Amino acid sequence: MTRRTVRIAMNGVTGRMGHRQHLVRSILAIREQGGLDLGDGRVVWPEPVLVGRREHALRELARRHGLTEWSTDLDAVLADGTVDVYFDAQATSARADAIRKAIAAGKHVYTEKPTATDTAAALDLARLARAAGVRHGVVQDKLFLPGLRKLKRLVDGGFFGEILSVRGEFGYWVFEGDWQEAQRPSWNYRAEDGGGIVVDMFPHWEYVLHELFGRVCGVTAHVTTHVPRRWDEDGKPYAATADDAAYGIFQLESGAVAQINSSWAVRVHRDELVEFQVDGTHGSAVAGLRGCRVQHRSATPKPVWNPDAPVTEAFRDQWQEVPDNAGFDNGFKAQWELFLRHVVLDEPFPWDLLAGARGVQLAELGLKSSAEGRRYDVPELTL
Ligand SMILES: NC(=O)c1ccc[n+]([C@@H]2O[C@H](COP(=O)([O-])OP(=O)(O)OC[C@H]3O[C@@H](n4cnc5c(N)ncnc54)[C@H](O)[C@@H]3O)[C@@H](O)[C@H]2O)c1
Repeated sequence: MTRRTVRIAMNGVTGRMGHRQHLVRSILAIREQGGLDLGDGRVVWPEPVLVGRREHALRELARRHGLTEWSTDLDAVLADGTVDVYFDAQATSARADAIRKAIAAGKHVYTEKPTATDTAAALDLARLARAAGVRHGVVQDKLFLPGLRKLKRLVDGGFFGEILSVRGEFGYWVFEGDWQEAQRPSWNYRAEDGGGIVVDMFPHWEYVLHELFGRVCGVTAHVTTHVPRRWDEDGKPYAATADDAAYGIFQLESGAVAQINSSWAVRVHRDELVEFQVDGTHGSAVAGLRGCRVQHRSATPKPVWNPDAPVTEAFRDQWQEVPDNAGFDNGFKAQWELFLRHVVLDEPFPWDLLAGARGVQLAELGLKSSAEGRRYDVPELTL
């Protein structure tokens, strides 16, 4: 086996996503398995260079994971010709500027979503990357979740017949931070810092709907801030200037309609934190992060509306669990491996900065729809 080292500047790795999902569960996990086997006698060995603003936090993180390279000087890391890839998991508001610099320095770019906070900036990144000839990719982790992969399998296998509608329910209660610590960072609730559930979640809904059911061509949304006052990491109260709930209707090019509720002010009465119900002429499915249940038309009960009689059927019991039939690795790691293959072998990687811009566009149009009380067409983006 020959080893091909890929040096990755990882920015924002002290954060929730950067640390847990990207550093530990992806890059370090790939190293623990001996690298990424390319199947041709070569192994890709990812070598992280941790980048951030706080020296002590980086030093401690590097020590904890037995890593030796870290820096608070992004410009110097980008000027280092031995660094191949720039990865960004910073707070959203800091992302576009850093990616622009990385592209200018000729680095391949892999980034968390949203790629920017407005469509023009997101498209600009895609154009710059294409002009520079660097490889680029955007995290679209939900596609790699076991539940959604099973759902995709059902779509590809023709299980649904004609797909009529998709209903998504996402959310959980995020504590205000006064009497119990909030479980999400406070910038998520400040619009001026790139926060808001629309900017955060509509990019996910765009690629999930697009990949499974077809392009989103229209959006109507009602967006609100249910909890206007929260307490930050230091226990200080602040005004929540960003939205914490969005009720969206998405028209799909296929003619199907998707309706997705996203909320950080809802208590969970579901099996999973996100669930999608898909109804088709031949069958229906309910998919979560891991599980997926189906009901075929041949096994569909015939309920009759009668409020005078108690419910006679256990509706939930009438669904059948879809088996795994495959091993599912961590979704972030699975996508990292595909991106590394894209970098080293030039294999196709469809989830690029243009795909990322589509997510930003849907968020932007969703916010406009709500502010103006009207439906928006979603034009197809091109470079
Ligand atoms: N793919 C997903 O499922 C998913 C889930 C959650 C968050 N995210 C995205 O990941 C990114 C990080 O989110 P998080 O929840 O890990 O946030 P976080 O606050 O936990 O981490 C943010 C990181 O960026 C750094 N940072 C914060 N503010 C900064 C600034 N102004 N300038 C430079 N660096 C700054 C922090 O030091 C930290 O390392 C966001 O863009 C978010 O949209 C993606």
